[in-house]
Amino acid sequence: MLVIAHRGASGHAPENTMAAFRRALAMGAKAIEFDVHQTLDRELVIAHDDDLKRCGRKKRRMRNLRWKGEGENLDVGAWFGERFRGERLPRLEELFELVPSSVELHLEIKHGSNVYPGIEERVADFIRERGALARTLVSSFDRAALYSIRSLDEKVRLGYLLGVTALKTAFKEMKDLSAQSLHLSVRQTTARAVKAAHDRDYKVFVYTVNTPAERDRLADLGVDGVFCNYPELDLWR
Ligand code: G3P
Ligand code: MG
Repeated sequence: MLVIAHRGASGHAPENTMAAFRRALAMGAKAIEFDVHQTLDRELVIAHDDDLKRCGRKKRRMRNLRWKGEGENLDVGAWFGERFRGERLPRLEELFELVPSSVELHLEIKHGSNVYPGIEERVADFIRERGALARTLVSSFDRAALYSIRSLDEKVRLGYLLGVTALKTAFKEMKDLSAQSLHLSVRQTTARAVKAAHDRDYKVFVYTVNTPAERDRLADLGVDGVFCNYPELDLWR
């Protein structure tokens, strides 16, 4: 079972920052998950939230943020701890430069073109141009974003985040999308759901797993991977 560092080693460093990604690599992570947004001036950046509340900018939304002169100067570390003050909002480019090609990348698109115009094409081009199709899995709760990526590129690997969709609908859409994996929350992960996915040759990835007991229960259910804020869960077995 693959242990995927969720938002980097986000139990140890501010999530989705270069500090969290470096920490995950130092801990031997074989795969890293992160969330992607797009700024007003079309920069692909890594962050989880749609807004900047945690950075002390209550009213500011990512889609209205300019990278040039604003996003590039944003402090995304201090909320987690004083020693992380000065961490900058990472661009997708920086992460791909940091992570060795042996490490799998789980790129979650937070919203498609309805919020971030053209993001699907930008992400697909980005992955293709870097020769990273094999090591990158693109996932989203946003179905339209997944369909858009698939219409742009038949090779991008897709993961389907279930959210509130019924499993039956999910399997139909996953077939249309040629998706490879079903992504479930811990609560959604039942033996029945895992079997139904495996019967259709889909992998099952589960978020967010932070204790050895949960990890072991999911391993017993036969899931293929778990997203963990603590990549050391790969070691304590
Ligand atoms: O991709 C798995 C997980 O990251 C989905 O939820 O909110 O942590 O991005 P969230
Ligand atoms: Mg995510």
